[in-house]
Amino acid sequence: MNANPGLRLVERDASGVDLAFRSDVLLGLSQAQKAIPARWFYDDAGSQLFEDITQLPEYYPTRAETEILTNRAAKIADLIGSGRAVVEFGSGSSVKTPLLLSAIRPSAYVPLDIAGDFLRASSAALAAKFPGLPVYPVEADFMRRVELPAEVADLPKLGFFPGSTIGNMIARTATDLLRSMRETLGEGALLLIGMDLVKDEAALLAAYDDAAGVTARFNLNLLARVNRELDGDIPVESFRHEARWNDPFARIEMHLVTQDDVTFTVGGERFVMQAGESIHTENSHKFTKRSGQTLLAAGGWEPRARWTDEGSQFSLVLAESRPPRSAP
Ligand code: AVJ
Repeated sequence: MNANPGLRLVERDASGVDLAFRSDVLLGLSQAQKAIPARWFYDDAGSQLFEDITQLPEYYPTRAETEILTNRAAKIADLIGSGRAVVEFGSGSSVKTPLLLSAIRPSAYVPLDIAGDFLRASSAALAAKFPGLPVYPVEADFMRRVELPAEVADLPKLGFFPGSTIGNMIARTATDLLRSMRETLGEGALLLIGMDLVKDEAALLAAYDDAAGVTARFNLNLLARVNRELDGDIPVESFRHEARWNDPFARIEMHLVTQDDVTFTVGGERFVMQAGESIHTENSHKFTKRSGQTLLAAGGWEPRARWTDEGSQFSLVLAESRPPRSAP
């Protein structure tokens, strides 16, 4: 797998520190509203905790999207056709990827992920399930254009971006990603993308603050990761998990709120927080049919089909890369 010509390794310094992680954290902690980008949740422990979240009774998105993929498999396969290289943005360890792959008969599977160990483990499991399907994992930050392995260069592509991970991004970043996906996937590409829907506020808050406290552990794991990987001494016990609904932006926010006045160092830099202040760790935007379509259009994708689950909780959209054209 390491001979993969498309492989782009994460940049690290001499002591193994992920340089992008360090600069994101140091920049984010220097702001008035402290923030750390949500993509850093997914070290091995965080990836495992997210898998646990998907099993929670309150966390509906995974079940709803799986329901759509199961019940609409025939129609989805019909619209996508066979022989495409499936490029998944984030490596699929869930049940969703096998559902898609067995529905559409692809010619190759290319999972892209920044968590290298998790990527290799889930790729191996996937390859074992689909003997004869070439699997080319690429360790990469898919927020930028990714050079795909030469083996899939001439194949038509289907981008797969399930889970409403697009909702983690503010509109500007989401648009950038959708546009760079078009570049990564090339002409004639299709994109199958999950978009979570606006719904009752109580149901949303419960999904992001479950009774068993798994989401709290997932959120707090980020501080443990910072301490371990960036030589930090954040007093994790002072922080508690909080989920908030931000109505003007139609998004759930996750914060880590300190209960005490604290000072700590990360990567040699000193930070101070007062009791009640938070580190903003995630946005999870929720969409309507219209807001989803507008976002896709801004990124250069035209919806071809859209499905929801029985409870109308979640949507799955099949979109086509749209060549630039003259329009009023
Ligand atoms: C993986 C980004 C789709 O926003 O619902 C789950 C991550 N955060 N619980 C989401 C998450 C808290 C999840 N995504």
